[in-house]
Amino acid sequence: MSLKPVMRPADGRFSCGPTKKRPGWSWEALAGAPLGRTHRGGIPKIRLAQAIEQTGALLEIPDDYKVFITPASDTGAMEGAMWSMLGGRPVDVFATDEFGRRWLIDAVEELKPQGLRTFDAPYGSAPDYSQVNFDHDVIFTWNATASGVKIANGDWIADDREGLTFCDATSAAFAMDLPWSKLDITTFSWQKCMGGEAQHGIAILSPRARQRLREFRPSWPVPRILQWFEAGDETAKIYEGSTINTPSLMCTEDYIDALNWGAREGGVSALIARTKANAAALDAWVQKTDWIEYLAHDPATRSETSVTLKYAAHAVEGLDQAAQWELSRKIAHVLEREEAAYDIIPHPKAPAGFRIWCGPTVDADDLTALGPWLDWAFEEMKANAV
Ligand SMILES: Cc1ncc(COP(=O)(O)O)c(C=O)c1O
Repeated sequence: MSLKPVMRPADGRFSCGPTKKRPGWSWEALAGAPLGRTHRGGIPKIRLAQAIEQTGALLEIPDDYKVFITPASDTGAMEGAMWSMLGGRPVDVFATDEFGRRWLIDAVEELKPQGLRTFDAPYGSAPDYSQVNFDHDVIFTWNATASGVKIANGDWIADDREGLTFCDATSAAFAMDLPWSKLDITTFSWQKCMGGEAQHGIAILSPRARQRLREFRPSWPVPRILQWFEAGDETAKIYEGSTINTPSLMCTEDYIDALNWGAREGGVSALIARTKANAAALDAWVQKTDWIEYLAHDPATRSETSVTLKYAAHAVEGLDQAAQWELSRKIAHVLEREEAAYDIIPHPKAPAGFRIWCGPTVDADDLTALGPWLDWAFEEMKANAV
């Protein structure tokens, strides 16, 4: 019998996005934002350029890679890449969860490039990357936020590939080691690992990706918002912060604040270490808890940012998926009411259980404090469910 815990997590925000803001964040972080000014000149333009420069510096991207800000978050970035750059050669799309499936559906139903191949994986597993053909353009998700399955490393990606690699790294960038030489187009949003505000995306392009933009135009129409063609020009203003459309200067200021925090912490390796320590703190509870299991079965590909958990079969005997989902909802609700945890429900299309963000802005002590609350709420709610 679990007693109601006394210690609450100091901050119960474990959402997978927008994620918790960095430790110590307050509205003061935005005090210097150049609001009410145009983004086309003066201090706002300098701030946008700073956001771009600091992104590259913190992520330690190669000198010959380039960064720019895109509209519409990670989806805007991925779709900008797909619409502007695919179509010249066959495409392999790998999907590990609902998000990767969006790119797969974009390819199958909208773009329909010649020679399209798709590789989908059930929840908890990785697609079969061994089937990849690097003469093709290849699309994949580094960390599948909804399934909690990540790519373990880039060893499978050919150095001498003819096609380009398109990597959705939205819940991986700043929290996992990314092998830049293997990635031609990398995208992410501000509201994932750095706890920034939503609606802005980042694209990072290799020299070959920029060459594609210079030398190739797809046959399909590309809406203005997804047009990356100017990024083929090595001196394009987009790399200095001249964005495709109007950005939020408040969000930009907040993102710079997050990047400054990341640098103060000790850079990307320190952010990765924080993430690993967070996942380890949660893992200590998972290992000693017999009613819960990881959804991702292979430890090598188990995400350290979006940790997904399912019920152990014996703990929910007699409950079908719908009933298990109901149990998860009740547990999440009671933990929210108790101010112990917010937003730990899985993605709606994923199996029942919990999804707990362990990215760098979260504190390990809060994850340690969460376990006993989950035990308590499970016992309380399970009694009602059976
Ligand atoms: C892996 C992945 N890709 C894409 C998205 C969509 O991102 P956005 O809402 O920033 O467009 C998400 C959102 O959680 C995600 O986790």
